[in-house]
Amino acid sequence: MPPTDDGFIGLRELPDDDPAPDRVEVTLRAIETTLELVSGHPHRHQTYDGSIPGPLIRARRGDVLRVNFENHLSEPTTIHWHGLRVPNGMDGVPGITQELVASGGTFVYEFPLLDEGTFWYHPHYDTLSQLGNGLYGAVLVDDPDEEAQLGAQRVLAVSDVSLNADGTPQHHEENDDTRAFGREGATLLVNGRTDQRMQLVSGTRLRLRVMNMARSRYLSLELAGHTFLRIGTDGGRLEYPVQESTPLLTPGDRADLIVEPRGEPGTHIELVTLPVDRGPGASTATGPERLVRLEFIEGPAPELLPLGPLTRERDAFDFEDAEEVQVSLTMDALEHGLVMGINGVPFTQSAPVHAETGRPQIWNVQNETAYAHPFHIHGFSFQVLDGDRLRSPLAYEDTIDIPARETLRLVPRFDEDRLGLWMFHCHILDHAESGMMGVLALTEPGAPVPVLDLSDHDHQGEQGHHGTPSDAGGPPSAPDEPDVPPATSGRSPHEILLEVLTQESYREPPWLAETPSPRGPVGVVTPHGWVRVFANDTLQQSLLAGNGTKRADDGSLEFDSKAPAHDPGSIAVKEFYDGDERVGRAALLKLDGPTTAAYYYCEGPPERCGVQTPTPAYGEMFAVSCGTCHAGFVYTVNYPAQ
Ligand code: C2O
Ligand code: CU
Repeated sequence: MPPTDDGFIGLRELPDDDPAPDRVEVTLRAIETTLELVSGHPHRHQTYDGSIPGPLIRARRGDVLRVNFENHLSEPTTIHWHGLRVPNGMDGVPGITQELVASGGTFVYEFPLLDEGTFWYHPHYDTLSQLGNGLYGAVLVDDPDEEAQLGAQRVLAVSDVSLNADGTPQHHEENDDTRAFGREGATLLVNGRTDQRMQLVSGTRLRLRVMNMARSRYLSLELAGHTFLRIGTDGGRLEYPVQESTPLLTPGDRADLIVEPRGEPGTHIELVTLPVDRGPGASTATGPERLVRLEFIEGPAPELLPLGPLTRERDAFDFEDAEEVQVSLTMDALEHGLVMGINGVPFTQSAPVHAETGRPQIWNVQNETAYAHPFHIHGFSFQVLDGDRLRSPLAYEDTIDIPARETLRLVPRFDEDRLGLWMFHCHILDHAESGMMGVLALTEPGAPVPVLDLSDHDHQGEQGHHGTPSDAGGPPSAPDEPDVPPATSGRSPHEILLEVLTQESYREPPWLAETPSPRGPVGVVTPHGWVRVFANDTLQQSLLAGNGTKRADDGSLEFDSKAPAHDPGSIAVKEFYDGDERVGRAALLKLDGPTTAAYYYCEGPPERCGVQTPTPAYGEMFAVSCGTCHAGFVYTVNYPAQ
């Protein structure tokens, strides 16, 4: 938004460095900056390009957007493009769609803009903290067929922070209660400011593009005495506009609203957000909170073009003969604390929801908790079923409120050409962090489960590892080494990943502290390409139940390292080098059903090696912090249940 003459402070727009009319190229930096969110009290924040929110990225539907991203933070990060239907590799989820962008690193995000609408960007790494610190920004994709009569456009990026009087961020206590409710900031920001106002002549038509970028807070907008005409939502325009007196925006949600504020010159009214009861702990005592003060000034009555029908062709998503998918939003108080989850399990233990292109699904999203949850699916839009019909007007949603104890039936539309792993989660960041996340695996119909591939993963350009004396630069295998399974191109949803990342990106799993020092190596790779595992009885028995297994002379078990990964009992290995010297190997085993186990052993003194994950689960990390090999960590990705 260029600065406006009515006093409202808009967002700075990033300049387009590409002269081609249908391409927009911008440079975006994540950088720590000193800002005065409370005037007179500077404090350092994580920002995009030095401001909170970050700069506005603006383009038109049909353009290709290229973002040269530079990470100047002291920690890794990624960018997720919330609501945009991007290719899977551009979705910004570390460990799922891309590698972390290390401190000092860069990444090029490039994708076509398929939809017009109001979108946003934010990290998908340590999101609660990074987004909460100030890393978020808006993307406005204009519609080349836009009507002229929609009014003066204002972008309102709404967020909240909690600051002490000296401008330092307030330290919020984190406990089961704050996690269950989700922490809200006490101070509301509109485009990063607490003092937004607008001077206008009564009857001026405004088009407000509102985005809720807060961590937990719901917005319920109100302009006393007025009704909004809602023309758009997450993924662009509605099929036809609807009147709304208090539009609700959950975290992650967007609204495209038309309103003509009226009042006597010299008076003012306020655009506020009303308290929303989203569960136990909600304060309804706060009353309305101001977003923008609208001050009426003298002036000639504005000439308004008639609004007209403002309709749009919207596709009705197909749900004929749809497969039903149960997605329960759950919460359990366990001994070690509160766990939120999907279908009763937190993210780290979840199995992906499997979808095939061309096969419609209905997601029965059932909120079993006493809290409302904003449900968000990455990469795809969905529509809502009312009984056996799609809700009117048709809209393209990506984030929606699932009220406490209620169920919404969603019809996602899976594009044919964007296979891969996609996140879905609650957009209350405390909830997501506590486990309310899952993964969708979109494949072609009847796609064979690809062969386990550990070989090409570290050789995929941007995904190179940083700083670990390990695999990527290692020498080729000696002739007597086991062959790795054939490389598949790209990453498929069924692929198991096993890789070593850097110490920086390593976050120790909580259970590690309790894990006693392992006994020693759990296995070796034999010269004929089998892997021998020394295991306890239980493990041996479950391994014996699989195929590709035989018992060695000393009673240990051997596995064919080339066996297809989806066969129970099969195994894959990966080697780690320090210069020319092989210092360690990791083994990944598929025991049975959707269960995978991973092992690491090094060839040096085995003091701290031979670490096994207790219950390895989707995306779970396990440590292989070995004094000899200095490997960072390895993590596994489960198969979808078959
Ligand atoms: Cu704004 Cu994973 O989402
Ligand atoms: Cu939630």
